[in-house]
Amino acid sequence: MKNIKVLAIETSCDETAAAIVQNGREVLSSIISTQINLHEKYGGVVPEIASRMHVEKINLVIKEALEAAHVTLDEIDVIGVTYGPGLVGALLVGVVAAKSIAFAKNKPLVGVHHIEGHIAANYISHPDLEPPFLCLVVSGGHTHLVNVESYTQYEIIGRTRDDAAGEAYDKVARAIGLSYPGGPKIDKLAKEGNKEAIKFPRAMMDEGYDFSFSGVKSAVLNHVNGAKMKGEEINQADIAAAFQSSVVDVLVGKTMALAKERHLTKVALAGGVASNQGLREAMEAVCTQNHMKLYYPDQILCTDNAAMIGCAAYYEYLKGSRAGMNLNAVPNLPL
Ligand code: KG4
Ligand code: ZN
Repeated sequence: MKNIKVLAIETSCDETAAAIVQNGREVLSSIISTQINLHEKYGGVVPEIASRMHVEKINLVIKEALEAAHVTLDEIDVIGVTYGPGLVGALLVGVVAAKSIAFAKNKPLVGVHHIEGHIAANYISHPDLEPPFLCLVVSGGHTHLVNVESYTQYEIIGRTRDDAAGEAYDKVARAIGLSYPGGPKIDKLAKEGNKEAIKFPRAMMDEGYDFSFSGVKSAVLNHVNGAKMKGEEINQADIAAAFQSSVVDVLVGKTMALAKERHLTKVALAGGVASNQGLREAMEAVCTQNHMKLYYPDQILCTDNAAMIGCAAYYEYLKGSRAGMNLNAVPNLPL
């Protein structure tokens, strides 16, 4: 069988990324140009700046991905691109670049859902993983419990009703004086803190499979403001540990309950928060206890990258998905 090489492009948020992926799971190159340092001083991603930086970097990043994989555009079989969800101006840069290459080189174009990409990152890190499995998608923009029925079919069973898990991490981090993105910093600090020192709420624990993180975020803000009013120092590490423990308890509790209810023995994590050490350890422990196998992508594949988009594009391509020159960015694209 002929090898299928996908050139994948990802620009949905603050990473300009391109990758060459062969037969879905073999990453020949993966280039990520991050804008984190530009957005850091604003405390979060500024959409205007993100779009402008994508425009500046996109051609260079694609060129680097081709060079690192030692392939030419003529040797590429498929162009895959994230077309939603995400920031509209940011997405458009990738979509226009992908369409231009597909048109100029007469290559098939495949549009990829960003979350589908995050889930697919697991296929790259685990060559043995095949659907069906349960996937907890936890990123800066999304918190979904997804039954991955096949490589291209998904049933969303639970979702957040307010903040995404990563968003809560970033907001709490900001409240205790840590810079954007706060998730990794809280994760690190949590190891030094006492999670029992403060009790933050575990929202909607016994109410189905939807999530809510705005309550725990507000509880942290109240705690911080209360300490300030009393002129007391806050203990960053204890707050980080207690907050993380609350978030992880809910994520693990609901994922396990659903896996048991559906008799699914494979559980995967995906998205930026999937690199959280506390979440990985807690999930590993309960999976072992319940004779389930846990999967999560390598660290670099958890946060936004184009290799995961290349993997998802491959399976969409095999299914027959093709996008036309009218492919547009869809900021709130449903899965
Ligand atoms: O998947 P991603 O790169 O972007 C979206 O699609 O949203 O996720 C970024 C999010 C940020 O909110 C960041 O704080 C969070 O993932 N994150 C973490 C960790 N690493 C990244 N959150 C908790 N613990 C981590 N170790
Ligand atoms: Zn993402």
